Amino acid sequence: MSSAFSDVLGSSPQSDSERERTSVHYDLSEKDDWQTPPELINDIESAVNIDIDPCSHEKTSHGDVNLRLEDGDDGLEDSWVESAKTDYPTAFVNPPFSYKKDWLQKAVEAVKNGVETVIFITPDGTDTKSWWHKYIAEYATYCCFCKGRVTYLDDGEETGTPPFGTVITIFGSCPDELLDVLQDWGHVVETV
Ligand SMILES: C[S@@+](CC[C@H](N)C(=O)[O-])C[C@H]1O[C@@H](n2cnc3c(N)ncnc32)[C@H](O)[C@@H]1O
Repeated sequence: MSSAFSDVLGSSPQSDSERERTSVHYDLSEKDDWQTPPELINDIESAVNIDIDPCSHEKTSHGDVNLRLEDGDDGLEDSWVESAKTDYPTAFVNPPFSYKKDWLQKAVEAVKNGVETVIFITPDGTDTKSWWHKYIAEYATYCCFCKGRVTYLDDGEETGTPPFGTVITIFGSCPDELLDVLQDWGHVVETV
């Protein structure tokens, strides 16, 4: 695997836990900025209304509320989860993959706090105990293993094809319309 992608899957020498992190500083890589392709967002939005994207990018604006680190809104520290139940029933999270563990923990917390649905993008890392098994296998409702490779955007332009598969995970409830959309994108598995 090229070193350019190894940290995305969490196997580089600089693992998630080794990255310096404080409430105001994150050690983000270029790939942590990659945006979700608009076709996927459009399909999701044809099925559900996205209320909040707590880790958004200036070039992509998903949902009614966008938290942007550059604007001083830290989606890991911000209290959006506390008001999720009333204000943000559906969240969309394509996190910086360097911090996917922290964001998965946040998503699980959100659903425990009463948020209806969190749609969460990760690499396909089914062998990884520290985040896949701890959070996705344990708490997800559905996982959609995408057909082929999802091509992300970098500053609005298509990136090269990444050497990993993408999984769209649903935490909380999944409306039938969203389930239909997910089945167009890949193989959907219900977790037990
Ligand atoms: C993988 S990109 C996804 C952007 C957008 N949500 C999308 O799907 O196209 C992750 C984004 O999260 C932002 N980000 C990273 N850490 C954050 C934090 N703690 N709070 C809010 N945003 C953060 C990064 O600046 C980056 O734009």
